[in-house]
Amino acid sequence: MQKPIYLDYNATTPHDPEVIEAMRPFLESEFGNPSSAHGYGAGPKKAVENARHQVAELLNCLPEEVVFTSGGTESNNHAIKGIARALKQKGRHIITSAFEHPAVLEVCRYLEKEAIDTTYVPVDGQGMVTAEAVAASIRPDTIMITIMHANNEVGTVQPITDIAAIANRHGIVVHTDAAQSLGKIPADVQEMNVDLLSVAGHKLYAPKGIGALFVRKGMFPEKFCHGAGQEHGWRAGTENVLEIVGLGKACEVAARDLDANTAHMKAMRDRLHEGIVHQLNDVRLNGHPEHRLPNTASLAFKNLEANRLLEAIGDTVCASAGAACHADTVSVSHVLEAMDVPLEWAKGTVRFSVGRMTGAGQIDRAVEVVVRAVKQLLCR
Ligand SMILES: Cc1ncc(COP(=O)(O)O)c(C=O)c1O
Repeated sequence: MQKPIYLDYNATTPHDPEVIEAMRPFLESEFGNPSSAHGYGAGPKKAVENARHQVAELLNCLPEEVVFTSGGTESNNHAIKGIARALKQKGRHIITSAFEHPAVLEVCRYLEKEAIDTTYVPVDGQGMVTAEAVAASIRPDTIMITIMHANNEVGTVQPITDIAAIANRHGIVVHTDAAQSLGKIPADVQEMNVDLLSVAGHKLYAPKGIGALFVRKGMFPEKFCHGAGQEHGWRAGTENVLEIVGLGKACEVAARDLDANTAHMKAMRDRLHEGIVHQLNDVRLNGHPEHRLPNTASLAFKNLEANRLLEAIGDTVCASAGAACHADTVSVSHVLEAMDVPLEWAKGTVRFSVGRMTGAGQIDRAVEVVVRAVKQLLCR
């Protein structure tokens, strides 16, 4: 049986064949501990440092500004808790947006227990945080602004450079969660002028369970994981060499092929969107029409239940719902809620996210299947 067409690349990505090849020796023979002084440690140590260079190249930072972590969630935890705790004598206020990933929102909520207060800046109807709204939330005790680079559900790309410029004028640390943007759009830490940036390997064709955090030189977030001193003492524990190598290669490929991949994803996403709206009325796009990830189309089908549509197409097309309907209640995602998407649209929202491996034939088949299913569901 053929596997369904995968249009859920924002959930996770398959491994890039070049990533698999780069990791192979570390599965088969290069098992040494990078901290070992003997010959078995040399290869893995060199590989970890090479990967650090590859990540740094993609982010345009120094290799020593890259700390390997277990993924986007851990990077966000380290960045936000680390800075909040290190600077608590200076102030106890963080600014974030209402539609961050839970890996940011839950950290901010948790920090309330440590008497650190968070302002959740609203987003507009297209999922945009304005620099003005961030500026208006700054208080004398604000120590950190954490706003995601691009949203995972609707793909809206935030004006991080403008937000960072305001933060810099006030001496406030800036962190951005770039889990979804890396490899899809440029994410240059110098251009954005951020102090910390989170990377999630599995959104970037590397394995799950690996990530990185950019920590600008001169920033001293509190150490998070204490132990034998790996990762400049900041994240102790024997390095996940296999996956670090995978992440490094994934970053090298992402930097090398960024323009071609962006163009391809955009062409596939727009083919899907246009194919659907050409044949169906009452379909609306969530998120910003232009300032949006090139691979993401969050489409709202009016008066439909997203889960019923996903069930109907599930044998052929895999995507994600923006709302879940249970008995007579509907739980809309916090992202669509923050954007004030009306219920009749929100409940029928499906996120389609394409990737490098998506082909035109797959898109045409997906359009056919989605259109047929929507028509059938609306007839019932
Ligand atoms: C925007 C964003 N941040 C953070 C994460 C969490 O990353 P990880 O799954 O690597 O912990 C995700 C994953 O869905 C994400 O989309």
